[in-house]
Amino acid sequence: MKAIKWKWHQLILGLSCLLLTIACNGLLHPVSISPNSGFKTLKVATDPTFVPFESKNANGNLEGFDIDLMNALAQVGGLTVEWESLPFDGMISTLQAKTVNAAISGITITAERQKTISFSRPYFKAGLAIAVRANNQDIQDLKSLQGKKIGVQIGSTGADFAKTLPNVKIITFNSGPDFFQDLLNGNVDAVISDAFATLYAIKDGHLKGLKVVSNLLTEEFYGIATPQDSPYLETINKGLATVLANGTYEQIYQKWFDTKPPQLPQK
Ligand code: ARG
Repeated sequence: MKAIKWKWHQLILGLSCLLLTIACNGLLHPVSISPNSGFKTLKVATDPTFVPFESKNANGNLEGFDIDLMNALAQVGGLTVEWESLPFDGMISTLQAKTVNAAISGITITAERQKTISFSRPYFKAGLAIAVRANNQDIQDLKSLQGKKIGVQIGSTGADFAKTLPNVKIITFNSGPDFFQDLLNGNVDAVISDAFATLYAIKDGHLKGLKVVSNLLTEEFYGIATPQDSPYLETINKGLATVLANGTYEQIYQKWFDTKPPQLPQK
């Protein structure tokens, strides 16, 4: 009799351990990112230092064009977005490591990046421009940048562009807001970065005392990035096609840019 009782104890103890292990595993991995698991959660990275595409508002919540767009197209595809804030510079390697399912962060589609990650169809027409202090008279074009100190964000297309200029001193920054601060302080003479974001920040008062030099330096398109051959790419592209066709895209564009969106290429 005693022996049987002991076995019961062992069995109950064993079962409790098993249950505890399962529960703990659940806590450690609350969200499955496997497309076949039935948990339809998409882990999406963003660098929220890029007004008006992604930033954190006073309450610490993410907001911006990219945030609205991603949430809208995820809804179409039956997915919930789990946001993860990451520095822009680490975004591509994070996608390569597949620790997130996607990234939306005003990321320009480039041939170089396409070697290691995949992109959705273009969702925004953008381009680079030179920003200077509002009272600067001598920087009017690329030529006048010679001998000047130029601020760029590490890992950005602005940084790539600056590298092609002769006789300039390039100063790299971790995030956009930092290089604008240094431009205001006079630590750099000009910044090369995404024109739309800069113009928006000047207009809405985020950036005072700066201006953008007339012409765009490049034409670029932003895409939603995923690891290569991501099973989610098709859902993302379908979602984009739907919000482009049903007026949601236009609504979001109007909300943030107060104007009608331009035509976007399919590819
Ligand atoms: N469009 C540029 C690029 O792809 C800069 C994007 C910066 N985005 C950001 N969230 N900080 O390199």
